[in-house]
Amino acid sequence: MAARVCAVRDAASTPDRSASPRIQRFAWAVLAYNILVILWGAYVRATGSGAGCGSHWPTCNGEIIPRQPSLETLVEFSHRITSGLALLGVLGLLFLAYRRFPKGHRARSAAVASTILIFTEAGIGAGLVLFELVADNESMARALFMGTHLGNTFLLLAAITLTCHWFGGAPAFRWRGDPLAKWAGAAVGAIMLVGISGAVAALGDTLYPAESLLHGLQQDLSPTSHVLIKLRVWHPVLAIVGGLVVLHLVAEIRRAKRPQPVRRWATAVNLLVIVQLAAGALNMVLLVPVWMQLVHLALADALWISLVLLLAWAMAIREAADDGDVTGAAALRASYDSA
Ligand code: HEM
Repeated sequence: MAARVCAVRDAASTPDRSASPRIQRFAWAVLAYNILVILWGAYVRATGSGAGCGSHWPTCNGEIIPRQPSLETLVEFSHRITSGLALLGVLGLLFLAYRRFPKGHRARSAAVASTILIFTEAGIGAGLVLFELVADNESMARALFMGTHLGNTFLLLAAITLTCHWFGGAPAFRWRGDPLAKWAGAAVGAIMLVGISGAVAALGDTLYPAESLLHGLQQDLSPTSHVLIKLRVWHPVLAIVGGLVVLHLVAEIRRAKRPQPVRRWATAVNLLVIVQLAAGALNMVLLVPVWMQLVHLALADALWISLVLLLAWAMAIREAADDGDVTGAAALRASYDSA
């Protein structure tokens, strides 16, 4: 038993000979492709094309390949095909993780998590169609599904990001016991909550478009408005609080004077928080045109991924130092600086 524990720990902490830039490049490509599929999913929602295949799944209007499709059908059907390819990409990561990395290795765990999460993602998407929570459905069940869909998407992106990170040979990190853990948890939780509230706001905006900024605000404040409109005001409020929490986390990390990859991701996270807050405001002023919704979602994904990488690097360095492995920590820093 003790030998097994040691073997697993060794697999988690030794430098990786199985890692290579080639498989890491493939993993980054899978991540980039998944982001495109997510954006296309938002396009399906924003254009009200979710019922393009009727309430049929996995067939489209009862056909495997739709003949004489309408524009709506094409949009929905292409989302299904592209998500199917995303699933194949993630299965490719799983295959590589098991082929290249030893038993108990963190790269394998991240690839397994990515696989489970892409299946739950497909399940939620199928649920939306089968329960007819699409097009102009304005039920709370739909809002719940949309929030869960966004939460699952963020977890999926985190799992694929960590697969990329570890396919390239990056070290393990440890959350428990890390002095950063409290603020890191608050930042991850806050951005997750902001994202979920954003998905609900997006649904409110799609179903009840405002004719002007003033009309939108009147809708938000009217006691007779639909609950989805009342909920959408919370998104900017949560975003400002969440943004401040993340900026504080970055300040904490910077104070500790971390070496290069940490500094790079800290700058990226800081910039993305500020740009995203501005993009959110612009989105509202422009009355949420589809292109701006896609930009806003792309920035949300970029911020989330950068936060995951920032924490993965920052906590890895602390882990080596906290274990009393001063030379290990120094070697880690040197290798990061030259990276
Ligand atoms: C850290 C900051 C923010 C993050 C991470 C964030 C994230 C998100 C996400 C994930 C969505 C759902 C997109 C979709 O499913 O299509 C969304 C929607 C939305 N957000 Fe934000 N947001 C932030 C800040 C803001 C701010 C400050 C405002 C307004 C002042 C805002 C206004 C909106 C609006 C109006 C929508 C609905 C339209 C759309 O889908 O784009 N956001 N946000």
